[in-house]
Amino acid sequence: MTSIDLSTSYLGLELANPFMTGASPLGDHLDTVRQLEDAGCAAIVLHSLFEEQISQEQSGRIHHMDPLDRKFATVLSYFPEPKSYALGPDEYLEHLRLVKAAVKIPVIGSLNGTTAESWLAFAKLIGQAGADAIELNMYEVVTDSDQTALTVEHELKQIVADLTRDLKIPVSVKLSPFFTAFGNVAREIERAGAGGLVLFNRFLQPDIDIRHMAVWPRLELSDSAELLLRLRWLAILRGRLRCSLAVTGGVATPNDGIKALLAGADVVQMVSAILRHGPSYFTLMRDELSRWMESMEFRRLDQVRGSLSLSKTEAPSAFERAQYIRTVGQWSSWLGYQAHMSAHEDDEPQS
Ligand SMILES: Cc1cc2nc3c(=O)[nH]c(=O)nc-3n(C[C@H](O)[C@H](O)[C@H](O)COP(=O)(O)O)c2cc1C
Repeated sequence: MTSIDLSTSYLGLELANPFMTGASPLGDHLDTVRQLEDAGCAAIVLHSLFEEQISQEQSGRIHHMDPLDRKFATVLSYFPEPKSYALGPDEYLEHLRLVKAAVKIPVIGSLNGTTAESWLAFAKLIGQAGADAIELNMYEVVTDSDQTALTVEHELKQIVADLTRDLKIPVSVKLSPFFTAFGNVAREIERAGAGGLVLFNRFLQPDIDIRHMAVWPRLELSDSAELLLRLRWLAILRGRLRCSLAVTGGVATPNDGIKALLAGADVVQMVSAILRHGPSYFTLMRDELSRWMESMEFRRLDQVRGSLSLSKTEAPSAFERAQYIRTVGQWSSWLGYQAHMSAHEDDEPQS
């Protein structure tokens, strides 16, 4: 098993293997961070620092709303108080320095916001504090019906261009899948300067509590079912973009990780599985990948990466459409079979 080379490159960083943590509290404690490295985790993304935190500290306002102005009281009450975030902006930088000093693996800072405004300048401080890269998460649910897809996409591209213009470290962009023409969005973001894409943001959707007639935030850990959408887009984008591709969402087992690599991921980010099983799960991920590669007679990861992508497929849209028709067809014949079985439940057995 020693002759198997799992090394990979992500955002120009050399990693010992493709498995790393995604943005989460897993990077919040130095003990955990050391355990992650010891278990084989190849890089760490710290939890996000939010635009709202930065702008509140810099100007006392959130999205230009002054807390002292009573007309914004309701909207501002939706946001957490500054002290309820795990780390304030300056503490974030200090924590980053400590994490960098505690481990040798790359440490990636995460910025999370929605506008192309001055908060983005904080990225430089994250770079100066020692981050090897920045992951930008533009988590937004666009509810304004006057806003067009074109405006949203243009704004996103602008933010990436502004952020990457003077920054010395690479930037990856964590995206939502909810774009009509995702392939174009991905390409434009790469053109704007992104060194990598992280697929996909997992939308944490509030649920409704019917007993208390209230909306409540619901955070459930993911499972493998969420991986399929990511596999599809990794397979489509691999070979069509030059930037790095990371998967996040639904990698629950070693086999899921292998699937993501076959589809085209350079790296596999994991959060839910590590929260469930602990840092040592990285050792299992790495060992199972080596074992599988050996059984398939692969020696290096680049022989695996993207080998089941659509990069050589002549008409990927036709391929996807055909897969859809086949799947639906199989499903209806399964339903027919079920109906047939229940209609004949009481029949006498044929001799
Ligand atoms: C407790 C928790 C905290 C998270 N915090 C962040 C965050 O600060 N920034 C971010 O971009 N994603 C955050 N995420 C999302 C994860 O980075 C990841 O994209 C998502 O959990 C899907 O990966 P998984 O299926 O391996 O859990 C968080 C997820 C969890 C479960």
